[in-house]
Amino acid sequence: MRQAGRIVAAILNILSQQIRPGMKTKELDTIATRELEKRGAKSSFKGYHGYPATVCVSVNDEIVHGIPGQRVLREGDIVSLDFGAIYDDFQGDAAVTVGVGTITEKAKQLIAAGKGALDAGISAAYAGARLGDVSAAIQQYAETRGFAVVREYTGHGIGREMHEEPLIPNFGEPGTGPVLKQGMTICLEPMLTTGDWRTKTDDDHWTVRTADGSLSSHFEHTIAITDAEAEVLTSRIYA
Ligand code: MF3
Ligand code: CO
Repeated sequence: MRQAGRIVAAILNILSQQIRPGMKTKELDTIATRELEKRGAKSSFKGYHGYPATVCVSVNDEIVHGIPGQRVLREGDIVSLDFGAIYDDFQGDAAVTVGVGTITEKAKQLIAAGKGALDAGISAAYAGARLGDVSAAIQQYAETRGFAVVREYTGHGIGREMHEEPLIPNFGEPGTGPVLKQGMTICLEPMLTTGDWRTKTDDDHWTVRTADGSLSSHFEHTIAITDAEAEVLTSRIYA
């Protein structure tokens, strides 16, 4: 899983660096596919419940599962990239939101809060803690900064499958839910909005966006639980 995580991190780094105004979202998918091949890895997403691409590209009010295509990125957009890889039969899954060129102050704050909410969740995730502690830490971080947390999509366990037990909501009550154990591998993935948390899904049956048209950010890491600080398997620092 460390290797799968490192591949995901490295490719997300490449994608974030390649983003620029005038680029079609499809180009990001082409790069992701080529980089996976280079590393002898496979896409977790392509064909998953019929998903047609290698990376999810969700722009502005799109929260998750945006399908890359002919849309052209513009200065001021914010782009969420969600990407998963299979290497040696194990999965890695991570997401990041980046700005295209200069973005508004509000968008910057949304991105910072999304990143911070994920870090708050990671800090709360150690052996002996309850799942509700992690969910509550994420929710509290986001809401105290004035952002809403999406309810209908959650984090998840991960291993040989991309989605395993348990579901990990980004909101909840401390002291509730299953106890985390050393060696568990999970994905935390807070989705924040500048408005309301309610969502709607496009006619393509994939693209999920905010119901009120507000902006959304999405950050995700695959982590391994230890009795101290969790090991972030998709850390982009060392990739
Ligand atoms: N990466 C998403 C998650 O974090 C799942 C992507 S759905 C797919 O759980 F259909 F695009 F694969
Ligand atoms: Co995930």
